[in-house]
Amino acid sequence: MRLLGMMATSRSLLVSRYLVASALGASFGCVACASDNPSDRTFAQQVEAGGELYGVRCAECHGDSGQGTADAPRLVGDGALPKEPPAEREVRTNEFGTAADVFAFVDEYMPATAPDSVSRAEKVDILAFALSANGVELDAPLTLENAADVVLHE
Ligand code: HEC
Repeated sequence: MRLLGMMATSRSLLVSRYLVASALGASFGCVACASDNPSDRTFAQQVEAGGELYGVRCAECHGDSGQGTADAPRLVGDGALPKEPPAEREVRTNEFGTAADVFAFVDEYMPATAPDSVSRAEKVDILAFALSANGVELDAPLTLENAADVVLHE
């Protein structure tokens, strides 16, 4: 999968947003920064949480490490998350250009038997885990706002 080269474009954007957030925190103090606030987490912490959720909610169909099973396609490894939906897909019709596109599909259709059983925030964490497992590391946590900047396929 062609995931690594593309990070060059989104990286600087993410870094600058992160720096803005840090600067505000420094000048105004961290008045409402509860330690359990998801936005306080690093990308690595988000990936860890997403990995645990993945194991409970997605692995039964997509495999313990996202390698795919007879029931569902791989989410990790060579050829995972292809831009065009392969002919054998029965549900997916959208292109996966960015992480936001993958999120849109997961938000509506996954887990396949009960899409509403996993919250949107949990799905973002799971997606962060899948990106990381595919070699994509972000400098700031993945959010619904920056997911469109994370380009998987040009
Ligand atoms: C009950 C089985 C099942 C579970 C549980 C499940 N999936 Fe899926 N998933 C599928 C199937 C089947 C497809 C293929 C859909 C199609 O044919 O278009 C799929 C497709 C996908 C795709 C698109 C992959 C591609 O290459 O087109 C993503 C992304 C995905 N699932 C993410 C998740 C996530 C994240 C979870 C956990 C929150 C999850 N799935 C849980 C069965 C499942």
